[in-house]
Formats: sequence, C-alpha cells, structure tokens
Amino acid sequence: MKKKNKRDFSLKQITDYYNQYNERERLSIPLGQVEYLRTCGIILRYLPGPPLQIVDIGGAAGRYACWLAALGYEVHLVDPVFRHIEQAGAASQKQSKNPVRSCTLGDARHLAFPDSLADAVLFMGPMYHLTEYPDRMLALKEALRILKRGGWLFAVGISRFASSIDGFMEGYFMDPVFMRIMIQDLSDGQHRNPTDNPDYFTSTFFHHPSELQREVIDAGFQFEALMAIEGIGYMVKDLEKNWEKNKKSILEIIQKTEREPSLIGASPHIMCVARKRE
Ligand SMILES: C[S@@+](CC[C@H](N)C(=O)[O-])C[C@H]1O[C@@H](n2cnc3c(N)ncnc32)[C@H](O)[C@@H]1O
Repeated sequence: MKKKNKRDFSLKQITDYYNQYNERERLSIPLGQVEYLRTCGIILRYLPGPPLQIVDIGGAAGRYACWLAALGYEVHLVDPVFRHIEQAGAASQKQSKNPVRSCTLGDARHLAFPDSLADAVLFMGPMYHLTEYPDRMLALKEALRILKRGGWLFAVGISRFASSIDGFMEGYFMDPVFMRIMIQDLSDGQHRNPTDNPDYFTSTFFHHPSELQREVIDAGFQFEALMAIEGIGYMVKDLEKNWEKNKKSILEIIQKTEREPSLIGASPHIMCVARKRE
C-alpha cells in the first residue's frame, strides 16, 4: 500500500476542519464585513478593468470569485475542500449571467492551469494553511508560473499576533489550552489546535508582517505593498451594534492606517500585493 505522506495528512486535516466550520458565513458578521469590504477595495485599486483572467486559489465558497465574475472578469476558483467547491458552484449558478468559469478541487502547490494564463491571482488561504516554508514556496511559485508578465498577486497572511488579539477579545486566554496556543504562536507562528473546538482554528502558520513580504519576494515576485486588511477595526466599541451606521468612518480610519508599520501586525489579516516581473 502507498505510504501516506505529511502533505496528504494536512489536506485531510483542512477538509475535516472546514466540514465542521461554516466558512461560507464567516464574512457576514460585522468584522467579516470589514475584512470583505477592505479586501475588495484593495484588489480594485490595483486590478485593471475587465475582461481579465483571474484565478482564486483557496477561494472557499466563492465569495470573492462571484463578486469578480459579476464585475465581468473571467474567474477560475480552486480549493481542496469538496464542500467549498459545491458551495462556490451553487453560488455561481445564482448569477447565471456572469457565472464563475470553473470551480475545481485542487491544491495551490500543483495547479492544473497552463503557464501565463492569469492576469491576477487571489492567494487568500494557502499562505496560512501551508505550515511549512517549502510548501508555501512551491505554492507561490505555482502562482508565479500561471501569471502573465506584469500580473498581480494578492497574497493574504494571518498575523503572528492574531491569536493574542482573539484570545483577549473573546476571552479564550482564560482557557489554559488557548493560553499555550497564544504563547506558541508568538514564539514561532506555528498555530496548532489540540482541542475539538473549531473556534481555536486548525494547524496553520501565522506570519510576522515582514516574513509575509519576505516570502513573496523569495518566490520571485516584485513587491508592491503590504497592508493591514481589517487593521484595528476590531477595536471599535460594540462593533456588532455600531458597524452598520458607522461603516464610512470605520473604513476611513482603517485605510488611513493601513500601511503604518507599527500597526500592520495588529491586523488579523494582512495583504501583500506583488507582481510578476515584466
Ligand atoms: C479561511 S479560508 C479563506 C477563503 C477566502 N479566500 C477568503 O479570503 O475569505 C482559506 C481557504 O484556503 C483553502 N486552502 C487550504 N489549503 C489550501 C491549499 N493547499 N491550496 C489551496 N487552497 C487551500 C481552504 O480550503 C479554505 O477554503
């Protein structure tokens, strides 16, 4: 019998996690809406207008892929979780005039797309789900391979400090198990969840902002910008209650502080924008 390698095990763990966690709804709560609107805003700042080919790697239930397809882009989504592919397909069918071109099972480290196909790649999942540097390099180099010269990469990482922020905000730090998770994350970014509680996430790697930038450069990209996504938006008093009425002010302050080096790591998600060299 063929021996299972570590990589198969990690994809199984990812699938098991997302089969019990409802990723589709994650961007609907107020902090998720901050993340979604900020991510869309950053992408649109760089992306030339349609028609262009975009590949969304780790596209989950298709939230961003459907948005871009509705704007007129030709979008292909790849994700290793079957449930996400089904959800993305169903969401795409609801926009029959502008569907996502394809939703397929796949792994960022081995893409089935030809060289130089894409004008842009969304890479918002593999940077943290691939816990080992060589795997992240493999995946980034695949993104580079499928991009056209001058094409855009939007790579998202989770901050090294995200568990500390979440631990304090949600009170998880009072659980000694989560306290150990926070300390481990702060020491080397290797996030592990020894419990069954999906709120504590799954095996992942959390970047220091400078590491995220470094890795994108290491893979051969031309670096453009590093930005906080939600920034300090989670600090808004009673965000759940105050978000709807105060969106504009909240987003304005986040944008004004998005490149402040002393604050980027305080953002749960961080965006690295880069290009394939001309
Ligand atoms: C937290 S979700 C983010 C979804 C969406 N891109 C967003 O930013 O909201 C991370 C996604 O990355 C996917 N993923 C994990 N490992 C991956 C890999 N090796 N290749 C491609 N996608 C992967 C997961 O299945 C999941 O759908």
